[in-house]
Amino acid sequence: MLDVLLRENITNVRVYMDDARAMIDALPDAGLDIVYLLHPDPWHKKRHAKRRFVNPDNLDALARVLKPGGELRIVTDDPVYRQWTAIRMTERTDFHWMAEKPADWRTPPADWIDTRYALKAGREGRLDCFFRYQKL
Ligand SMILES: C[S@@+](CC[C@H](N)C(=O)[O-])C[C@H]1O[C@@H](n2cnc3c(N)ncnc32)[C@H](O)[C@@H]1O
Repeated sequence: MLDVLLRENITNVRVYMDDARAMIDALPDAGLDIVYLLHPDPWHKKRHAKRRFVNPDNLDALARVLKPGGELRIVTDDPVYRQWTAIRMTERTDFHWMAEKPADWRTPPADWIDTRYALKAGREGRLDCFFRYQKL
């Protein structure tokens, strides 16, 4: 990605190479139109579940920095994380799941670009789930 930014002289991108939670905490309230959480680490073992990025504290932090009407997009190819995310997000009153039919979470959004991890998952036969939530 850094190569592409340099080669194409793209100057409106900032890269923070550390724990994203510190960066989110430094952002002002209601400033972001969209947040992408792409293939978060699934932390399969039950005793590690509290490390999953989709958790109440991180969702509170993301809710604070998103504009009302903004979007939180979470993509995972992992069936356990898919179920985990669906349950954690159903518990929220500040996010609305935008899906109206199964195709809405099974099909990539029109502006979708596969990440390296998404391509790997596709090659290995795992299907992505595209969660889209509107910040209320
Ligand atoms: C499965 S990889 C997906 C990478 C990339 N998003 C993609 O789709 O190709 C998960 C990545 O999340 C990063 N990560 C996990 N927790 C993080 C955090 N708190 N802040 C920033 N990055 C984090 C890990 O270092 C790892 O690179």
